[in-house]
Order: sequence, then C-alpha cells, then structure tokens
Amino acid sequence: MAKKILVTGGTGYIGSHTVVELQQAGYEVVIIDNLSNSNADVLEGITRITGKRPLFDKLDCKDMDALKALFRKHHFDGIIHFAASKAVGESVQKPLLYYRNNLVSLINLLELMPEHNVKGMVFSSSCTVYGEPDSNPIDENAPIKPAASPYGNTKQINEEIIRDFIHSGAPVMSIILRYFNPIGAHPSAEIGELPLGVPQNLVPYITQTGIGIREQLSVFGNDYNTPDGSCIRDFINVVDLAKAHVKAIERMLNNQSDEPVEIFNLGTGTGLSVLELIALFEKVSGKPLNYKIVGRREGDIEQIWANPGKANKVLGWKAEISVEDTMASAWKWQLRLREKGVM
Ligand code: WQD
Repeated sequence: MAKKILVTGGTGYIGSHTVVELQQAGYEVVIIDNLSNSNADVLEGITRITGKRPLFDKLDCKDMDALKALFRKHHFDGIIHFAASKAVGESVQKPLLYYRNNLVSLINLLELMPEHNVKGMVFSSSCTVYGEPDSNPIDENAPIKPAASPYGNTKQINEEIIRDFIHSGAPVMSIILRYFNPIGAHPSAEIGELPLGVPQNLVPYITQTGIGIREQLSVFGNDYNTPDGSCIRDFINVVDLAKAHVKAIERMLNNQSDEPVEIFNLGTGTGLSVLELIALFEKVSGKPLNYKIVGRREGDIEQIWANPGKANKVLGWKAEISVEDTMASAWKWQLRLREKGVM
C-alpha cells in the first residue's frame, strides 16, 4: 500500500514540483490549497508529467472544520507543509494577514496530527531566519537573527512552535528545511514559477522582462560590499529542492531521524550575484536584458549562501543542476507560457 502524503500549498511553485517528485517516488499525494496565490491548472501540468492526477481539495488551512473533515477522509502517513504567505515586501504592509495565515495554519495541522497518527511533518522554512549572516557559507548552527520582515518572523516563530509542540511530548516528528533561493522550472516546462501579478522575486521578473511583459528590470542596488556591488544569493534549482523533500519524507517515515526535530539548509553552497545571474540569463536566452540600477530594497540581505554539508551527508541529498541549466529552464518555461497564451 503506497504511503499517503498531504501536501499543503501543493499547487504553488515549490509544492507542485515536490508533488511530481513524490508521485515519481511512489507516494500517493493529496494536495490542499486555497488558491490564493496559485491556479488549479497546475494539476494538469503535474498530471501530464507523472501520468497520475493528484487528489486535490480547495481548502484553507485556517479552516479547522474543513481540515478535520479532510483528516477523517484520509489517513496521512506524513505532511509537507508549504501553504503560507511568502512575499517579504507584502508582509511589511500586511503583518496581521501574515501572522494569522502562517501561524494559525501550522497550529491547526500540528493539533490534528497526534489523534490521526500522522508520523511527521516536513516544514518549508527559509534562510531568511538567519537575517544578515556574520559570515558565509552558513550552516544550521548559525545564529538566528531578528527577522528583517514579518514574513521572516513567521518562519522563525513557526520553527519554535514545532519545537515546543514536540518538546511537550507530542508523538510526532519534524524535519525543517531552510531554503535558500529556489529558481527555475521543471525541464518539461509543464510546471514552473507563476507568480500572480507583478513578480516580487528576481528570476520571474528577469524572464518576464526578457519576453517583453515587463519593460525593464530594476536591480536594487550595486553599492553593496560585494565584488560587483550587487547582492549575493545561493540560487538552487527547484527540482533539486523538491527531491530534498522526498529524501526528508523517506528519512522521517523510515525512522532514520537522529532526533525528533532536524533542520537542514538546502542550497548549492555557491553564492552568485544578481548581476552574474543576469549575465547568465543573457547567455542562455541569447538576448541582452534591459535593466537599470536603482536604490536598495528595504530588508534585503547583502550576501548569503549555504553550507549544505549536513544535507549532503545526513539527508543524502546534493544539488545537481547547474545555475546555467536552471536559468535555461526558467526561460523555456516563460516561452511555453507565451505559446500557451497564459502570459
Ligand atoms: C533576490 C535578490 C534583490 C527583484 C526572498 C525570501 C525568501 C524566499 C525567496 C520564499 C535580492 C534582487 C529582486 C527585483 C532585484 N521567499 N532583486 N530586482 O529576497 O533573496 O528571498 O524570496 O520562499 O525567503 O526572503 O529573493 O528574488 O526577491 O531577491 O534586484 O526585481 O534579487 O534585491 O538581492 P530574496 P528575491
């Protein structure tokens, strides 16, 4: 009997790529999503890749009654919790929406797990919890700094909620995955990043500028203390990232975890600057990108990249896909969206 995994936020960017990898690893997947920042059409893309249409319920994780009904309908062996609001800038404008959504959703799920014998939760966290690192590369023992945004603060509080709940004796486990900067799209170009409205993140803004949807990319500052003055990030391929979630689920369900809560940084271990990424895009697309340097964006970290050694050794996972191939996948996805008339 295939193990059944609940994927909250599973029609989202990282969630949809993870559903593909879970199905291809033999898991049965149930997706719940309130579609506040994604589209149910993603289910068609997933089905075209894997040949299996995942079960889907439009559901908000803040709705405890709806969650209770779902847990009565299915026995889940594990949960991967992606569903959250995640735009740094928006969280500064709407902090209460972020605290209510990101905290209540998690609390509801945790509360239901023991009575329904759900073994554990893989939690989608972020390198944002580290704030501005004292040095790079950064490992899991780096200090947690005061969050630079309500979004980052919700991730820090989420991690503490998980730890406190399990410390109280709850018979569940958790693996917390701290992502660096997920980019790119599935090589089939059937699924990818599809932000609703004006993209907040760098790569969709680059590809939308490349294809002419956006007039010009604004580079937020080139006066940082970095070789070319622009910020440095650890850009990780979204399929590599999805595969790490399958490894985490396997580790949890096979009782391989050394402790009830484990934390892993998921990055490539290599930093790349914004301007270097733009140059890579120009190389893979074969066209110059229209951009201009503007002032810094509030809350931006100057430079951060991962030491992925623990995930490599303990999780048995390593990022494989080059940033160049990743940028090529992002561009192929943008071209496919235009072919399909989506944008
Ligand atoms: C990257 C770099 C910008 C847009 C955030 C969250 C993180 C995760 C990913 C959810 C920065 C620069 C960007 C633009 C630019 N979120 N930039 N022009 O801020 O590193 O990470 O998104 O999972 O948790 O913190 O990602 O892509 O917004 O920015 O110059 O139009 O690109 O200044 O240096 P960020 P980003």
